[in-house]
Amino acid sequence: MKKVVIALSVLLWLCLFFLNACKKDDTTTGPTPYNLVIPPGLPPMPIPTNNPLTVEGVLLGRKLFYDPILSGNNTQSCGSCHKQKFAFVDSSLQYSVGIDNLPGTRNAMPLFNLGWNTKGLFWDGGATNLESQVIAPILNPLEMHDLLPNVINKLRAHSEYPALFKAAFGTDSITVPLLMKAIAQFERTLISGNSKYDRYLIGKESLTPQELSGLSLYTDMSKGDCNHCHVLGSTFTDFEYRNTGLDSVAVDIGRGLITLNPTDNGKFKTPTLRNIALTAPYMHDGRFSNLNQVLNFYNTGFHYAQNLDVNLQTAVKGRLSTQDMLDIIAFLNTLTDTEFITNSSFSKP
Ligand code: HEC
Ligand code: HEC
Repeated sequence: MKKVVIALSVLLWLCLFFLNACKKDDTTTGPTPYNLVIPPGLPPMPIPTNNPLTVEGVLLGRKLFYDPILSGNNTQSCGSCHKQKFAFVDSSLQYSVGIDNLPGTRNAMPLFNLGWNTKGLFWDGGATNLESQVIAPILNPLEMHDLLPNVINKLRAHSEYPALFKAAFGTDSITVPLLMKAIAQFERTLISGNSKYDRYLIGKESLTPQELSGLSLYTDMSKGDCNHCHVLGSTFTDFEYRNTGLDSVAVDIGRGLITLNPTDNGKFKTPTLRNIALTAPYMHDGRFSNLNQVLNFYNTGFHYAQNLDVNLQTAVKGRLSTQDMLDIIAFLNTLTDTEFITNSSFSKP
């Protein structure tokens, strides 16, 4: 009996010791570094030195991402248009609708593997990094339509945010740069790299003959030639801006709006093809509702527009048979990562 009492008191003492030790750590060392796990096949992610990932920062960013408090009438969050089950695009809408019930002019983009994109965000590369991107949708009258001083005042008056900002950044003041940093931290954790194709690459799964045929057509320069731009493996894009001849004269001039250089008119950022089966409709204006239409476009539908990419200028129309196109689609379907869209770390907290 006595032994049990001694054992229990030792245990209690140990518990208290460790509890105190933890407590001490929290106040003296600040936020805890976030352990970003990069799947095989994706390179190390460049993280800006002035915004390292921390557990508290990512958590705050995640809460903000899903909080309608960032919109003018407190009804719309980033997550309203970027839904996890669709790899963070806006369901099957061609154009997302903002708080004033007005549609935008471009199709929502998926949000994952954004940390590897160092060549500009949005279809036209109008934002240079994840931090600065955050304020665009908040201010956009067709999206969340709010004013930054208003957003900051709402966050300061909130019952939880002051403590969450303090835990993440060690300061009592809530500012726009910290809001941008927190959301960017959360966005960098959105990593997708566990598709059937990824598992095939590490020998854990095999592809069917049709999927393998699609893969070889994808890389064959006289057939699909998708690989030139949607580079195989890793992020499935080189993030370059290109004119794919969607129209003979571009309606939305895309990259040209940003650089003001006429040779950039009609160029848009090459999107990733990971999770492509989940993100219909397709292209910057969401004009194609399924992958069949996309393949027909690349096979015969593209226009000899002024700035048409050189890889398409040389592509022979009608080079793909109906079966070829079905095979490429079968391959594209192996790029879906169901673990990513069900990962509870990315859902509304
Ligand atoms: C009303 C719908 C809507 C809301 C709300 C919204 N977005 Fe978006 N998002 C879009 C659309 C549409 C695009 C493409 C815009 C373009 O290229 O002009 C986009 C693009 C992006 C991109 C660029 C991705 C890439 O690969 O270049 C990021 C990042 C992003 N949004 C994050 C956010 C964040 C963070 C919030 C909240 C602060 C947010 N979005 C709120 C619709 C929305
Ligand atoms: C010359 C470079 C290039 C080639 C070659 C190319 N693409 Fe694209 N792809 C792009 C660009 C750029 C876009 C965005 C165009 C836009 O919206 O204006 C795009 C868009 C797409 C989209 C829509 C993605 C989305 O999120 O809306 C799909 C799907 C696609 N391509 C599949 C393919 C397939 C399959 C092939 C091969 C048959 C291929 N691409 C060949 C550059 C290319």
